[in-house]
Amino acid sequence: MEDAKEEIKARLAVEDVVGQYIELSRAGRNLKGRSPWGVDKTPSFMVSPDKGIWHDFSANKGGDIFTFIMEVEGISFREALEKLAAQAGVELKKYSNDDRRQAQRKVRAREVNEWACKYYQVALSKNKPVCEYVFYKRNLNRATVKEFRIGYSPRQGMALVEFLKKKGYSIAEMGDAGVLNRFSKDLFRGRMQVPFIDTNGQVVGFTARILEQGEPKYLNTPDTFLFNKSRYIFGLYQAKEAIRRDGFVVIVEGNMDVISSHQAGVKQAVATSGTAMTEQHLKILSRLTNDVRLAYDGDEAGVKATERAINLAGSLGINLSVISDYHGAKDPDELIQKGPELWQEAVKNYCPAVDWLLEKYEERLDLSTGQGKREYSDVAMKVISYLSDAVERSHYEKKVAKILDVSVEDLKAKKVNTGNRVKKLKAIRNEIVGFEKLKGIEDNLLAIMIYGGEAGAKINLEMPEDEARLAELSLIYETRYAEWDQEALEREVAELQKNYEIELKQQKIAELSRRLEEDLDEEESKSVLREIVKLQKG
Ligand code: UTP
Ligand code: MN
Repeated sequence: MEDAKEEIKARLAVEDVVGQYIELSRAGRNLKGRSPWGVDKTPSFMVSPDKGIWHDFSANKGGDIFTFIMEVEGISFREALEKLAAQAGVELKKYSNDDRRQAQRKVRAREVNEWACKYYQVALSKNKPVCEYVFYKRNLNRATVKEFRIGYSPRQGMALVEFLKKKGYSIAEMGDAGVLNRFSKDLFRGRMQVPFIDTNGQVVGFTARILEQGEPKYLNTPDTFLFNKSRYIFGLYQAKEAIRRDGFVVIVEGNMDVISSHQAGVKQAVATSGTAMTEQHLKILSRLTNDVRLAYDGDEAGVKATERAINLAGSLGINLSVISDYHGAKDPDELIQKGPELWQEAVKNYCPAVDWLLEKYEERLDLSTGQGKREYSDVAMKVISYLSDAVERSHYEKKVAKILDVSVEDLKAKKVNTGNRVKKLKAIRNEIVGFEKLKGIEDNLLAIMIYGGEAGAKINLEMPEDEARLAELSLIYETRYAEWDQEALEREVAELQKNYEIELKQQKIAELSRRLEEDLDEEESKSVLREIVKLQKG
């Protein structure tokens, strides 16, 4: 990896990589341009071809070609490496034995999961009582059981391990695949096995339901390098064609709801482990459609999950709606058992998620009292603040104002003094700005300490050892202080040190203030407050 990095650096000039994004002009031995991040009026972005580095004086960032691409494109190191390797014509594979070993482990883990799935499928066909459960109690037909590759894990503790050993897999490989418990025996025993199938149709794990009563009801594969719960969408492999074709997706809570739904002809259904939907889930779905319909239970968890989803969907351009008329059934599966056509109807009967939530709040709060109105406007305005479209926000503000029988102005005035979320965001932003300021001061101090001769002798910071960092500091020194005499430098040091202390204190106060917004008990809150007061005074 280091070799690949060096080879790419040797082949690509920093000014060419940066030059693809910023217009550069000569400034002595260096090149100058405008910051891609800042709103700088004078060019504050420097590139040193000799040193192979860049530094942005307005944003206090700097580094080599890799950090530049990471920052400017907002991507990971790995992605930047791949991008630049392609530009440089460097083949990464040649350099990464580790990666190849890792890829090989993945291949083996996939094979283990595939064999396990086949094994469970056969075990189901041989077990009458379990067939009874799957075909009669759950009402699944043969085609569905085949499509979703449903199986059964035998009760004996080593059944799968023995089978996989015969196939030539080691315990370590089974561990990689996630089929073992912590005693290196079968993780799944006596359960209905439903494989997690990825979008390429490969088995990456399992969710397994207990047949009788008992805990846990479902046992799932832990996160492995094949399976990641916060990304994985159950049923997407079977649903993606229908989602694309019909232009909508239905998200249900349970994996069994997905399976029943498909059997009932609603093939746009998927699930994200329970109600734990993440931004990644929504991003993946938003590539297929922007019509996302939630079919969560109307309970507390369902309301919370819907609020979260509205927050996540805001920036993704997704139209989020809610399917909620289950005719009294607990979940889609139960509704389908009453009649598949009821579910087919239900998915056509959807309501914008914000309207649905507002209605839920209305049901729960007593809007005839002042307190009820306050609570209602609190939660309603919070949800409205998640919306990224101003016109949509205004629409709902009017709606809420009407329900509360107040003017939109009054409602908005209230938002100013209850804006807890806004306050929190501000605190975070201050911290980030503060951090950048601190780093800027520190950069200058270090530059003088290392390259400033006598004037730097009094500075007592830790010496950086990283070469790229030293090169960056030397660029800072050249650009900023090269012409300064010792006396001017000494004054600068004194000034910088004073500012450094002040910034450090501000930073600490900002951190403590943010802690106050967390759930602290009274004692803890008091002690944090005392610390803040002490810092402010001292
Ligand atoms: P439910 O308990 O609502 O599932 O959990 P369900 O589909 O209705 O189950 P059946 O119909 O009784 O078989 C919803 C989801 O929450 C996760 C699973 O992803 C499940 O699909 N869950 C639930 C677990 O991971 N573990 C559990 O013990 C329970
Ligand atoms: Mn159910």
